[in-house]
Amino acid sequence: MKKPPQTPYKLWGGRFEKGASAQLEAFSRSLDFDYRLAAADIQGTKAYVRALQSARILNRKEAALALRGLDALAQELSSAKPEFFHPAAEEDVHTFILARLRERIGELADKLHTGRSRNEQVALDFRLWLKEAVRSTQSALRQLLTVLVEAAEKHPSVLLPGYTHLRRAQPVLWSHYLLAYFEMFRRDYHRLEICFASADVMPLGSGALAGSGLAFDRPKLAKELAFSQISRNSLDAVSDRDFALEFLFAASVCFLHLSRFAEDWILHSSEEFGFLELGEEVSTGSSLMPQKKNPDSLELIRGKTGRVLGSLVSLATTLKGLPLAYNRDLQEDKEPVFDAAAQLSAALSMAAQVVRTAALHPETMKKAATDGWLCATDLAEFLAERGVPFHQAHRIVGKLVLDSVQAGKQPQDCSLKDLKRYSPYFDKTCMPVLSPEFGVVRRDVPGGTAPSRVREALREARTWLKSI
Ligand code: ARG
Repeated sequence: MKKPPQTPYKLWGGRFEKGASAQLEAFSRSLDFDYRLAAADIQGTKAYVRALQSARILNRKEAALALRGLDALAQELSSAKPEFFHPAAEEDVHTFILARLRERIGELADKLHTGRSRNEQVALDFRLWLKEAVRSTQSALRQLLTVLVEAAEKHPSVLLPGYTHLRRAQPVLWSHYLLAYFEMFRRDYHRLEICFASADVMPLGSGALAGSGLAFDRPKLAKELAFSQISRNSLDAVSDRDFALEFLFAASVCFLHLSRFAEDWILHSSEEFGFLELGEEVSTGSSLMPQKKNPDSLELIRGKTGRVLGSLVSLATTLKGLPLAYNRDLQEDKEPVFDAAAQLSAALSMAAQVVRTAALHPETMKKAATDGWLCATDLAEFLAERGVPFHQAHRIVGKLVLDSVQAGKQPQDCSLKDLKRYSPYFDKTCMPVLSPEFGVVRRDVPGGTAPSRVREALREARTWLKSI
């Protein structure tokens, strides 16, 4: 690639005498981040060249030459690193592409912007880019979903305490616990599908704001660019950024899920819980304390959530109060989205590696699911099933727990004689109720933690994964 010329190519300027200050040029330059749209910009320009040929602005030879030039440029840029764009003097990616094309095909490049505005062009490029970004985010999500199912299938009978208020509540299967995260990420996958549909609307032909002055076949343009719809109103089309906002919302919700997962696993892998050991691959040490093995991978996932939520608020605030139609404020739409997409894909594959490399401590989990009277609900339900009104049963078992806690007794230390002191309805069939396995088997409803229900849920998860 030739060195870019020192004087920047400009798509405007005739109306000015002195021109903008160097300060404004630096202030308004977007090439340093919107270079990411280069491939989309070339794709859109190629479709536009064909439309210009149909509108007889370009003859066949000119169109062919322009298309060849654009293809060669695309080829060259496909391996270009970000640093490649930095020295270029053009203000944005749209100007940059035309300037580089002009170096290849000469003044013919000046014809390509006939009837086109950067307002529609940037809307088109951003949509094209986002559609790809959604697909690659979905593929990172699919990986994590697969790893979660694999991890759940690997340990079908491991138990751990389920928590409410971060206090031990009832025992659940490890696989059931993992599938809870599977459900959150499945919803994220669907949300991204909706984002894709919102981005899948073609704005080209809207001109600067009022619609193109050339009679383009917009549905044909949409087909060429693989859009399923065309925008219905030119004023809206050049200033609508709902699709970007929706992506940031979907990314934020997905990050909230990742953050909850990170928090859980930081706790579960701590010395205090000891439920699992994180792989060395996802852990770091301390520069001072030789014994430390820190969960930085998970802390960073949790930490990045704030910045992505910030991006959602940032774009929503940019859009608030913008008069119709395009305003330069809209240039601020891209960085939050680029950043959120990059952070999300990275965090999703980091989370997948955390799950893949973790080692469980099933005995510690089971002990935690036994100690602390997690069977109390089952004991109360045992009495209720024998006719004791539930509130009375609740009180009876509450007293049993209070006395046992005060005496330092766990369920496994209780004899039938001990239990009978609290209610004559306790008989020998209630002894298995004291074990955590009983509490799990009993929750045999769709969506419950009973092993057969979890097996069913895993089968369904596998089938769904195959369908996406
Ligand atoms: N860099 C601009 C953006 O991102 C491109 C559109 C410029 N349009 C204009 N009327 N100045 O929005």
